[in-house]
Amino acid sequence: MDFKSEVALLLSNATGLTRDAVYSAIEIPPQRELGDYAFPCFLLSKTLRKAPPVIAQELSVDPALTAVWIEKVQAAGGYVNIYIDHGQFSKVILTDLLLKGEDFGKTDEGAGKTVIIEFSSPNIAKPFHVGHAFTTVLGHSLSRIYETLGYKVVRMNHLGDYGTQFGKLITAFRLWGDETALRETPIKELLRIYVKFHEEEKIHPELTQDARDNFKRLEYGAEEETALWSAFRELSLKEFAIIYDRLGVQFDNYNGESFYSDRIPAVVDMLTSKGILIDSEGAKVVMLDEYKAPPCIILKSDGTTIYASRDIASVLYRWETYHYYKNIYVVGSPQALHFKQVFSVLDKAGYECAKDCVHVGFGLVKFADMKFSTREGNIVVLDDLLNESIAKTYEIIKANALARNTEISEEEIKDISVRVGIGSVIYTYVKSGRERDITFSWEEMLDFEGDTAAYLIYTYARTRSILRKAAEQGISSAAAGEDCLLLLSSEDEYDVARLICDFPDAIKKAQNSNEPFMVARQTSQIARAFNRFYNNSSILSGTDELQKRARLGLCEAVCTVISIGTNLLGISVVERM
Ligand code: ARG
Repeated sequence: MDFKSEVALLLSNATGLTRDAVYSAIEIPPQRELGDYAFPCFLLSKTLRKAPPVIAQELSVDPALTAVWIEKVQAAGGYVNIYIDHGQFSKVILTDLLLKGEDFGKTDEGAGKTVIIEFSSPNIAKPFHVGHAFTTVLGHSLSRIYETLGYKVVRMNHLGDYGTQFGKLITAFRLWGDETALRETPIKELLRIYVKFHEEEKIHPELTQDARDNFKRLEYGAEEETALWSAFRELSLKEFAIIYDRLGVQFDNYNGESFYSDRIPAVVDMLTSKGILIDSEGAKVVMLDEYKAPPCIILKSDGTTIYASRDIASVLYRWETYHYYKNIYVVGSPQALHFKQVFSVLDKAGYECAKDCVHVGFGLVKFADMKFSTREGNIVVLDDLLNESIAKTYEIIKANALARNTEISEEEIKDISVRVGIGSVIYTYVKSGRERDITFSWEEMLDFEGDTAAYLIYTYARTRSILRKAAEQGISSAAAGEDCLLLLSSEDEYDVARLICDFPDAIKKAQNSNEPFMVARQTSQIARAFNRFYNNSSILSGTDELQKRARLGLCEAVCTVISIGTNLLGISVVERM
């Protein structure tokens, strides 16, 4: 139950304002002493021709503002403050959660709507770097968030598998390529010959022309060149698949840039027939002055297509194929202008579907206390970051297990290290607003007490272990609707219940603003509130059986919410730690 909306209903009955109007006016008082919800009465002073404090006074004794879960209603200046009965609140919220279980927070508001989420989109034959990981983690989480709200999600990976560099790779491979190396470590081998090509090109300029010819042949679909390109693509994809597997990510579709290159003549015809494709120094462009953007090149002077033309073709393809509700691009903020141009060209051409294209940008990735051997152009490869994170986590878990003398097998320690190690990297990407640059720091990201994946996973494991211990002692946790849940009325318990109550709303807000961090923040606040409660009160000791069962119910609820939250972020949990 959404208490705020219940409060809005009562206030709407009392005031005659619509429920929505009341809902958006309700404030959460900054101090607990001022109640749980506050309604600003100045909203009514004009219509009622009364001063706000007078209205507040009248509302505070209005019989319409009564319910079992309302403890008291008080006027304070121009506000009427509403105090919720904490025990009732806990009972209602936990009952809802315990009934729904893992479905808590799910809605069907997106039913019948298809959302395309394009994310990851690495470049064939190039290393998968930490920037690609940013889009991958965000896109993966957004996909799950949309799905939880009932949308049908199509996960698209717009591979960078087209362009003149493939002509170079073909030339290079014929001269210096190593078949075995290509099969074993494709990206490493392709990168090696690509770098070599650029070195050799300086001494043998004729290589440039050879590469150009190869690219031409590739464009016309010549058999040998196409076979090589296709092998580079397949082998790179195999390597990416390992990364996606580590992150638990899947795609519905790998239509990369090459897929759309065939569709560009149709785009050119369309833009020509609309009269907006003009000649500019031999190139064909669409002017975008009215959108305050530079012209978008569609065809270069040599007739070849560019990145933007392929993206224009891709929007049209996606619209025709999926009739999307939203077409989302999770791509770094430096490409904001590119997307503005692409969407503007389509808008200028009169396509309504351009309005539902969204660029979801994100910041840069930096490193505080880490050293990596960078491969090309100062790139940090995701695999290195993950491996190091797992290794460091292993040391911590191992040391902990030794110190606490816990009986935990080597195999389990390894499994935990993988989940926590990878989860820590994922969490760093989603813990703050996506537009902000992020800084990886081991000290911060592996702090088990900090705002980290380790903290969330640790709290989850703690709830699991409490529930296991209770089961061993034959104590069952409170079931949905049981009156013992009314006992959860202390400040600490109420804090947890209140944060759980806001969890579904956090998912909606995350979807609305395409910001997974809102789910991360809510989940971590719940974990923190639970630990505060746990540190101040015991769950299983004492003699009050009903209280034990009520607190176990709270523990189970927190366990479920952390499981849902981490799952929405793409982080996996462990049963014990
Ligand atoms: N492959 C590009 C890169 O690595 C990102 C592609 C983004 N998606 C798109 N539809 N343009 O920078």
